[in-house]
Amino acid sequence: MKIKQSKAGDAPAGEINLFEIENKFGTTVNITNYGGIITSIQTRDKQGNKDEIVLGFDNPMEYLKDDYISNCPYLGAVVGRYANRIKEGKFTLNGKTYELCINNAPNHLHGGPNGLHQKTWKAEPFHSEDRAGVKLTITSPDMEEGFPGNLKVEVIYTLTNQNELVIDYHATTDKDTHINLTNHSYFTLNGCNEDVLAHQLVVYADHFTPKDETDIPTGDIVCIKDSPLDFMTPTPLGDRIKDVAGRGFDHNYVINGIIGDLRPAARVWDEKSGRTLDFFTTEPGFQLYTANYLDGSFGRGNKKFQQHYGFCLEAQHYPDSPNQPNFPSTLLKAGKTYEQTTIYRFGILD
Ligand code: BGC
Repeated sequence: MKIKQSKAGDAPAGEINLFEIENKFGTTVNITNYGGIITSIQTRDKQGNKDEIVLGFDNPMEYLKDDYISNCPYLGAVVGRYANRIKEGKFTLNGKTYELCINNAPNHLHGGPNGLHQKTWKAEPFHSEDRAGVKLTITSPDMEEGFPGNLKVEVIYTLTNQNELVIDYHATTDKDTHINLTNHSYFTLNGCNEDVLAHQLVVYADHFTPKDETDIPTGDIVCIKDSPLDFMTPTPLGDRIKDVAGRGFDHNYVINGIIGDLRPAARVWDEKSGRTLDFFTTEPGFQLYTANYLDGSFGRGNKKFQQHYGFCLEAQHYPDSPNQPNFPSTLLKAGKTYEQTTIYRFGILD
C-alpha cells in the first residue's frame, strides 16, 4: 500500500500536511497532522460508487479558521487530554485539587480550548505491503490546560487491506495525571446526502451511565433494556431519538466484555447505500453522539453539515471518571503507559 504526503500550509507551530492512503478496496483515508484530524474517508456503496463517509474539509487549513475554532465541533479530531466532561472542571489527585477550564459551563469538555484537537503534531508516514498509515506524536507540557505532568502522546492511524482503520494510542507522563483520549469522527454512511436517522444501530453494551442535566454521570450504571437507548437489537437511530432529553443521543455506553480486550462495541449500517461500519475498542465505553449541535454553518462543497447529519462513536473512559470512584480509573501513573486500540471496519451488506 502507498501513502501520499502533501503540504497544505503553515501554522504557527509548524507545517500542516495531508496524508492520503488507499487500500485494495478503493477505501481512501485522509489525515492531517493538525489536530490529528481524519479529514476524509471514502468507501464504496453496494453499487461500487465511492462517497464520503465522514464530515470534514478537503483542505486542512479550513480547520484553523477562527469561525471554525469558535464553533468547535471537533470534526474527526483526536480529543484530549481528557475527552468528554469533568464536573465543574475540578479533580483531586494525590491531595491536590486541579482546576481546568470551564469551556462547557458548568463543566470542562474535551481537554479545553487548547486541547490536542488543535495542536500541530509531528507526523511520520509508514507503509508496507498490506497497510499504510501515519504516526503522530506530541508532548503536552506539565499543567497545560490545568493537567499535571508532561504527557507524551502517540496516535498511530493505520489503514489495512482488511478494510479497517486502526487507531492505536500510547501515552506516558512524568507525574500522575488523568487521561482519556478519543477520536471524534462524525460518520455518515449515506455520503452526507441526508441525516443519519435511518441508519440501523446495534450496540454490544447492555448498560449506560445516566447523567444529570449538565451531562455529568450520576455515578449509576443502568441497563438500557426498554429505554430509548436500547439498541440491543438493530433499530434505526431515529426511532426513539425524540424520547431522549436534549437534541439527540449524547450518551455513554458501557461496553460488554473485558476492559482492555479488543471487542465489538457497535455496528451501524445504511440499507440504502449498503455501507456498514463495525466498531471495536479496548476502552470501557463509548459516547454515541448524533451531531446534535451541527446547524449547517459548515460543509464540504455544497453538502452542509446539518443537525443529525453524522454520528460519532467515541471510544472512551466514562465521563467524569476522575470524580467517580466506582468507574474504571483514568489515572495514569508517572512512568506507566496509557494504551488504547480502536478499529473502524468498513463493509457492504451481504
Ligand atoms: C459530546 C457533546 C458535545 C460534542 C461537541 C461530544 O463528544 O458528548 O456533548 O456537544 O462532543 O462536538
